[in-house]
Amino acid sequence: MITLENIRKDFPGKTGAVTALDGVNLSIAKGEIFGIIGSSGAGKSTLVRLINLLERPTGGEVIVDGRAVTDFKGGDLRDLRRQIGMVFQHFNLLSARTVFGNVAYPLELTGEYGRHEIADKVKTLLARVGLEAHAQKYPRQLSGGQKQRVGIARALACAPKVLLCDEATSALDPQTTGSVLELLRQINRDLGVTIVLITHEMDIVRRTCDRVAVLDHGRVVETGPVTQVFLHPQHEATLKLVREAEPDGGLLSNIAAAGVSGRIVRLTFLNDAARKPLLGKIAREHGADYQILAGRVGNIRDTPYAQFTVSLSGQDVAGAIAGLRAGGVTVEVHGGELHDADGEKRPSLTPLPALHRDGGLRHVV
Ligand SMILES: Nc1ncnc2c1ncn2[C@@H]1O[C@H](COP(=O)(O)OP(=O)(O)O)[C@@H](O)[C@H]1O
Ligand SMILES: [Mg+2]
Repeated sequence: MITLENIRKDFPGKTGAVTALDGVNLSIAKGEIFGIIGSSGAGKSTLVRLINLLERPTGGEVIVDGRAVTDFKGGDLRDLRRQIGMVFQHFNLLSARTVFGNVAYPLELTGEYGRHEIADKVKTLLARVGLEAHAQKYPRQLSGGQKQRVGIARALACAPKVLLCDEATSALDPQTTGSVLELLRQINRDLGVTIVLITHEMDIVRRTCDRVAVLDHGRVVETGPVTQVFLHPQHEATLKLVREAEPDGGLLSNIAAAGVSGRIVRLTFLNDAARKPLLGKIAREHGADYQILAGRVGNIRDTPYAQFTVSLSGQDVAGAIAGLRAGGVTVEVHGGELHDADGEKRPSLTPLPALHRDGGLRHVV
């Protein structure tokens, strides 16, 4: 649906140009909810504004629905913008217009619809976002969540193929955030609209998106299915965002305090593997013991997951690891073995990259 090819964006600055985007390549499929995450100043808003050409790239190509749109002007540009709705963090509603008037506004601008047709469309849109009863209110009479629902209805008015949401829930409380995210998922499901969700919060991505790209200093440093990026972050910037959402549960202090022995592994259970009592069963079969050192359990969109760092000890640790793998568990083995709590007796460990990055372990060993 959207392809960005080698996009660069420089802004003129007092002390020379500021590079907001530096060689961004991205491909967003039709019908998916695609997250773009990064900390403040990473270039997210600039990136999303390039998709509907509110900003023009300094270099590279923007392709929407198979057409290179980078140089679109006039009527072509107007048509493109009608295909792409946008939802803003601070709603950007017209304060002098009612809820009805705000949602009607983009339809009026097209000049293509009569009064009754507009009224019908607005009624349907307000029903979709759950605001039928509020049509005659003004923005100042609405809560934040209701205002954002108006913003979403307005963005959907011209039946766009794409919805761009730039920090759409960042001004809302957690409960309202949940209901707005649910509304976006519903819109994606029912209307097949492709959604691009910009956020600085990993939790929003985890609950809502199919795939995600991580933006850091104007570059895409990591991209993939949310399950992959969330559970096996590769880049330091991603790790930081994941840790903010999911503190590592005291991994460092657990290992240090517990006098851990055995082989340290990180186990990731997804889907079916997360629904079965695999760990206990396989440990029992192989005469192994496990000690949980850190962990997190939850859902990634609708996919249940559990991820534990455990130490395995006892009879047949290798057999237990093989059994877990056969059961669909991803096992990342921490190189070497811990024999007892006394640092002197431990052989030196060469952590696997994945565990090396997993908060704290490196400091213990
Ligand atoms: N209109 C502009 N003029 C100059 N610099 C800009 C402009 N818009 C964004 N920038 C700069 O580009 C970088 C990325 O900004 P932005 O896309 O807003 O990041 P984010 O949305 O991830 O916080 C920042 O350094 C910002 O100061
Ligand atoms: Mg921004």
